[in-house]
Amino acid sequence: MYLILLGPPGVGKGTQAQFLIDDLKAVQLSTGEVLRAAIANGTDLGKKAKTFMDAGDLVPDEVILGMIHDKLEELEGKAVIFDGFPRTEAQAAGLDVELEKMGKAVDNAVALTIDDEVVVDRLSARRVHPGSGRVYNLLFSPPKNEGVDDKTGEALVHRDDDQPDVIRHRLEVYHESTAPVAGFYKKQGKLLEVDGDGTVEDVRGRVKAALKDLG
Ligand code: AP5
Ligand code: MG
Repeated sequence: MYLILLGPPGVGKGTQAQFLIDDLKAVQLSTGEVLRAAIANGTDLGKKAKTFMDAGDLVPDEVILGMIHDKLEELEGKAVIFDGFPRTEAQAAGLDVELEKMGKAVDNAVALTIDDEVVVDRLSARRVHPGSGRVYNLLFSPPKNEGVDDKTGEALVHRDDDQPDVIRHRLEVYHESTAPVAGFYKKQGKLLEVDGDGTVEDVRGRVKAALKDLG
């Protein structure tokens, strides 16, 4: 199974992906997490991505598609939840080509929707555990012990791009380049739209219901 989570920065893609990997026995492939790990490890991929990410701009399609090619090989045979990919129509078309070569296809794209103002508040209070992708929020879902991950006790980090001016730019980039990706999957009859406002559990229930409706 190949399921896509679409939606603006801060809508809850990473949060909901953590539920879906359990519910669907899948693995999460967050392009943002892969890129941040590459930057932390000082790899060529990280060097190519850093300036774009710091500014809140998209990393070029060819860099992302090269990375996805390698990841799909590595994850062959597993159900995959894509989080934060594809982010342009060119990436969506590139993914279709890669999957077709494997005799596979995208099953569905869940588009989480939300107002921009809600996102700025959520992201300013976000903390993340880089090793696992687990996401916390100082206001809505704090860790049990301040500053550390619930499961591993390792330090949580505040992402470099979670500053108000960069968040606003990421939202502009989203509306300009990524929002049209929903139309790409709508045309294929694969789009499921889910309201991303409300509590984490509300949204989880809506996502589950949308996927169940498929039978
Ligand atoms: P990426 O890491 O994908 O960031 P993003 O899309 O901006 O999304 P976020 O991770 O900020 O938000 P999210 O939807 O995952 O929300 P979360 O669950 O954390 O990308 C970063 C950068 O990498 C990009 O800017 C780009 O440069 C580059 N990049 C990545 N992929 C790329 C690609 N394919 N092509 C080109 N460039 C790419 O939740 C946010 C906060 O809200 C958390 O604190 C959480 O606890 C809280 N929260 C979640 N749900 C709720 C709720 N229902 N109620 C209250 N709080 C909630
Ligand atoms: Mg995320």
